[in-house]
Amino acid sequence: MAPASRPRPKVIVTRRLPQPVETRMAELFDVELNLDDTPMNQAALADAAARCEVLVPTVTDEIDAEVLNAAAAGGRLKLMANFGVGVDHIDLAAARAARVAVTNTPGVLTDDTADLVMALILSVPRRLGAGEKLVRAGQWQGWAPTGMLGHRITGKRLGIIGMGRIGRAVATRARAFGLTVHYHNRHRLRAEVEGELEATWWENLDAMLARVDFITINCPHTPETHHLIDARRFKLMQRQAYIINAARGEIIDEAALCEALEKGEIAGAGLDVFEREPEVDARLLELPGVVLLPHMGSATFEGRQAMGEKVIANIRVWADGHRPPDLVLEEWV
Ligand code: DGY
Repeated sequence: MAPASRPRPKVIVTRRLPQPVETRMAELFDVELNLDDTPMNQAALADAAARCEVLVPTVTDEIDAEVLNAAAAGGRLKLMANFGVGVDHIDLAAARAARVAVTNTPGVLTDDTADLVMALILSVPRRLGAGEKLVRAGQWQGWAPTGMLGHRITGKRLGIIGMGRIGRAVATRARAFGLTVHYHNRHRLRAEVEGELEATWWENLDAMLARVDFITINCPHTPETHHLIDARRFKLMQRQAYIINAARGEIIDEAALCEALEKGEIAGAGLDVFEREPEVDARLLELPGVVLLPHMGSATFEGRQAMGEKVIANIRVWADGHRPPDLVLEEWV
């Protein structure tokens, strides 16, 4: 006799995902897709969380205590399989209290994000944004010995805040461009990894900030890293320093950044993320020396599909009664 087939888990996806991912989910799960891609408000998220066993949210969803209370009241939600590596939009304490497991998608967007960080490291000092605007505005009057001068990359010092997967991938790229690598991380890397990257560890972030020419933020956003870079720390930086952020906007105090740029405390910024996305402080739009991107670090077809495959794998392993590979909250398997 054939074994009784398990019922397919009810899965609700909050945003549109790449087509092959949605197609596969529809084959495997009892899935509810968000076909018009309208971001869900808090009431819609709470309603979804009460009706499914697995919720697939993204960075644009605020999964707060109220959403998780609704999930607990519904009594069905068991897994939050986040589409993305950052989980700072999920109240993890409330998820733990509601006994909802949380998974993410690490590893598959490392290279894409590191490429984008490197692109910003090149774009800001070399003024690619300003040059592009000049040509598009029809204002370029030809090559000039003193035209479009920026600053050299090779030979400068790069300070990486957060030396996880993405930080290390940035370090590898930076070395190929002749930058010397410095880093601040809670834990020092193993000697052989440090040796391979020729990276210098700074236990004291303030001391590193005062010494480097470029700073890139590659740590997660947590209560400890919220506004890690604030007005006091901008004052420690060199006036010719550039700051790059493709991690989370909230790690930089955006108002303090605008002031530091306005006062010339630092030379420029390359930002892929913002404190109140999709809102961008209007001052940033006017400031020279700033390159602004719309949170596109992981935005490759390959990367987004691989993220979807990770979501599917986490759900399938969980549905089969095993420990999902990318658990964020270890205790609720
Ligand atoms: C991530 O994976 O964290 C990206 O920033 C999108 O959420």
